[in-house]
Order: sequence, then C-alpha cells, then structure tokens
Amino acid sequence: MKDILTAPYMVEMIRTVTNMYNHGWDERNGGNVSMLLDEADVAEYLDTETAIREIKTGFSAPQLDGKYFLVTGTGKYFKNVQYEPEINLGIVRLTDGGETARLLWGFSDGGNFTSEFPAHMMSHAARLSVDPENRIIMHCHPSNLLAMTYVHTLDEREFTRTLWRMSTECIVVFPEGVNVLPWMVCGTNEIGEATAEKMLTARLVVWAQHGIYGCGRTLDEAFGLIETAEKGAEIYMKIAHLPILNTITDEDLHKLEERFGQKGREGYLD
Ligand code: 13P
Ligand code: ZN
Repeated sequence: MKDILTAPYMVEMIRTVTNMYNHGWDERNGGNVSMLLDEADVAEYLDTETAIREIKTGFSAPQLDGKYFLVTGTGKYFKNVQYEPEINLGIVRLTDGGETARLLWGFSDGGNFTSEFPAHMMSHAARLSVDPENRIIMHCHPSNLLAMTYVHTLDEREFTRTLWRMSTECIVVFPEGVNVLPWMVCGTNEIGEATAEKMLTARLVVWAQHGIYGCGRTLDEAFGLIETAEKGAEIYMKIAHLPILNTITDEDLHKLEERFGQKGREGYLD
C-alpha cells in the first residue's frame, strides 16, 4: 500500500485548508471541508474493509451509502493541518444508509469529523443530484461576507445583485447568484437540511452572521467561488458608506452575459 499522505487528493486538501487559513477565513477551528473520493483512489492507500472505529452520524443519507469522504475534524485548527494531518483530517465511508461512518484513517487523537457533517453530507447529496461530478463542500468564515450580512438585506436577489455589481468577474464566476439562509443554530440537522435545499439552485450559500458554504467539482472551484464572492463583499464594505458615483449597471451585466455566454439567474437582472 502507498502512503496516504502522498495521495494527490490529500496533498491538495492540506494545501487548500492551509491557504484558507492564510486568507483569514478560518480563525481557530472555524470552517470545514469535505471531499468525495472514489473507492479506487482510497483502496490504493488504505484497506477499505478495516475500520478503526464506527461513528453514528445522527442522520440518514441513503444517496451517499457506501461513499468515501476526506473531511476535516471538529474543533481542529486549519493552521495545524499541514503539520499533523492524521490528527486533523479523517477518511470515512458511509454505511447503513448514511447513518454510520466507518473511520478508515485519521482523527488519530480519538477525534471526530466536523460538527457540520450534516450540512456537508446533505449538501453533497443535493449537489450530486444536480451535478454528478461535484466532489467538494467547503465552509468558512470570510470577514467581509459576514460583515455584509449585518448591513445588507438578506433577500437573495438583492444580495446577489449587489455582489454582481461589486466587481466585473462576479456574474461570470457565479451566474446562478448566491443563496442566503437567515441566522440559525449551526451544527444541526436542521441547518444541514436548509443548506442542502439552497445548494440545489446555487453553489454558494451564505449563512447570515456566520459564514458561507461553497461547492464544486474541485477544491479550486469551491475556493475560487468563495474567493470571488468575498472580494465582492470586501468592495461592498469599503464603499457602502460612501457616495456612489459610478456602478456596474444591469445593461453592463447583460453585456457580460453576452460576452461570456453565461446567463445570470432568471429574473435577477432588470
Ligand atoms: P468544526 O470545528 O466542528 O468543524 O466547526 C467549525 C465551524 O465552522 C462551525 O460552523
Ligand atoms: Zn462555521
């Protein structure tokens, strides 16, 4: 068996969570990431039949039965992942219709997967139903997006339109817009279900006064979505209190739709 720490997906996961920490998106243990893995990619490195222990998930997700995930640990600091991946990350296989997670590697201090496991797994199931190639669910706490949820309406159309106007790239990178959930208690099945529902229509879901969820086929895609939305929010927080003399108009946004062959979400542009 090859060394799991040399697996390309492991290397990329460690680099990505380190980069997220360096962007200031993941203070303390803030944020969590999960990656869907193919059985063949796990079997090259681990005995898939032997579980270190079994963990009850507290929910069922029959669509994910038998699937493998590399996931960050609860209470773990992203800044430490690169130094002690085996403590801070784990690889699990879901069984019993998603009710049990068999730990195959990691969480070696007796730890557990992220407290946001329900939101991650339910979001994976939702995204796979609209994009069979989706592999990543990413959650973090970028400051400007968080700040924006204190001073901007949470209406999804308005929130999206504001971000689209904050930089030319926004409508190109997330033409479907961002969905928004009101403040809710985190780490519960309820917020998991609500997030998954929102993930059916957009790859970005803002959790008001908490953070954001992004998803994608690759870590780069999920990271890039959050990075672009956070840049938009940063511009907003820099200018919202100043007299606005110029902006990107709906007419300009229509020109971008044409130039990049990407339609903005139906009904979001005048
Ligand atoms: P975990 O440490 O359980 O992953 O929680 C961090 C977080 O961001 C909660 O929303
Ligand atoms: Zn969080």
